[in-house]
Amino acid sequence: MPLTLPVDPHALAALAELVSPPAGSPMRRRDFVFGVGTSSYQIEGAAHEDGRLPSIWDSFCATPGKVARGENGEVACDHYHRWPQDLDLLESLGVDAYRFSIAWPRVMDEQGRPNSRGIDFYKRLLDGLAERGMRAFVTLYHWDLPQWMEDRGGWLNRETAYRFADYADLMSRELRGRVAAWATHNEPWCAAYLGYGNGHHAPGHNVTRWGTQAMHHLLLGHGLALPALRANDPAAQVGIVANVGPGYPDTETEEDRHAADLYDAYQNRWVLDPLLKGEYPAALWKLWKGSEPLVLPGDMETIARPIDYLGLNYYSRAVVRATGEDSFEWVHRPGVERTTMDWEVHPQGLQDILEAFKQRYPDLPPIHITENGMSSADQVLGGQVEDAQRQSYLKRHFAACSRAMANGVDVRGYFIWSLMDNFEWAFGYERRFGIVHVDFGTQRRTPKRSALAYAAFLRQRAAAG
Ligand code: FCB
Repeated sequence: MPLTLPVDPHALAALAELVSPPAGSPMRRRDFVFGVGTSSYQIEGAAHEDGRLPSIWDSFCATPGKVARGENGEVACDHYHRWPQDLDLLESLGVDAYRFSIAWPRVMDEQGRPNSRGIDFYKRLLDGLAERGMRAFVTLYHWDLPQWMEDRGGWLNRETAYRFADYADLMSRELRGRVAAWATHNEPWCAAYLGYGNGHHAPGHNVTRWGTQAMHHLLLGHGLALPALRANDPAAQVGIVANVGPGYPDTETEEDRHAADLYDAYQNRWVLDPLLKGEYPAALWKLWKGSEPLVLPGDMETIARPIDYLGLNYYSRAVVRATGEDSFEWVHRPGVERTTMDWEVHPQGLQDILEAFKQRYPDLPPIHITENGMSSADQVLGGQVEDAQRQSYLKRHFAACSRAMANGVDVRGYFIWSLMDNFEWAFGYERRFGIVHVDFGTQRRTPKRSALAYAAFLRQRAAAG
């Protein structure tokens, strides 16, 4: 159901105030892109339809003990069938752009042959977005690797990087002209480290050295995909999305400051240094001695090919302390504001990290905040969802982003994670990140107050021209 906003201008203004950037913020300019995001496995469902093949997440969910309550993405938000209504909902939000991902196992088989039924789904979705006046930010890889690729070694196998480039080539030929911005990968850190290094995500391996090799092949796949994306779809922007967060030392001792630097290498530089400087951070091999990946001549140049934008996902910060010469541990500070993920709410970290990256990388491309948001235990009461913490969270993060922009960081867009509650990976359906509530029994969507407020702000901005 599309959402409805108050007609009375005062009521609209009061609502908009709840989720909006500060007065005078550069985020209020009409050309700043506001959106919401989702990903294929988290919302689509229809796991066995129209020739979709199994992904590593289907297998992982089917492995006892891996996902809370044994939940899976077989139905999820049933978006594969409900997409027209979901697009109406997006349109009523008034967002400029929608970020979603393509399920590789829907569109290509083991022989590399296209699956036209799967591809047609994304064509219909893109046409539906265009008809409703929204731009598409399309991610090629948001973690749902075809299981047949994993059976050949997945991201441990260098061949996967080349198959990924073939997949990017196919999709950009099929969808050319309909996509505003491509992202090769979403969060290679999670795909590599959680998937291969510690086993919390699919495919569930837990060898540090495998994590670094998987990362190298993910990044190589990104670099290999760029020329095809550019050649096939020259009007589109091309980039990649990384999850980032600052690490602060617990105390100001030299040891803890070194720990924070190690954390930064592990969390941020592991991904951003290869992309923006063409090298892995040396500090990482102090933390993970002997875990260097095999890198072939020319790889780092391929990985560091120029991109048009960098997508950053920001949720929280870490506080760390030294546990040895080159090791750290997380400090869980009591009494600070947290979400139901147990993640600390720390808007200042967004400003700090944006400004740090601007300092660190002279060639930092324009930035889109491709994810920011929080999970809370939202309930529908009398047809409404009062998600006060989320409203405040978003408002404070908009303000932090505005401060970084005022200090010269080139941020072009901001996507709230997520359009709607969905399958939150190993945590299943309990962690609700949506600005729209989903009742997974009935598939009923109920806009939370944060969605209404965001829509009110966007309507006001549009009216102001
Ligand atoms: C990010 C993922 C996204 C979602 C949010 C909460 O790591 O990209 O799919 O799970 O976290």
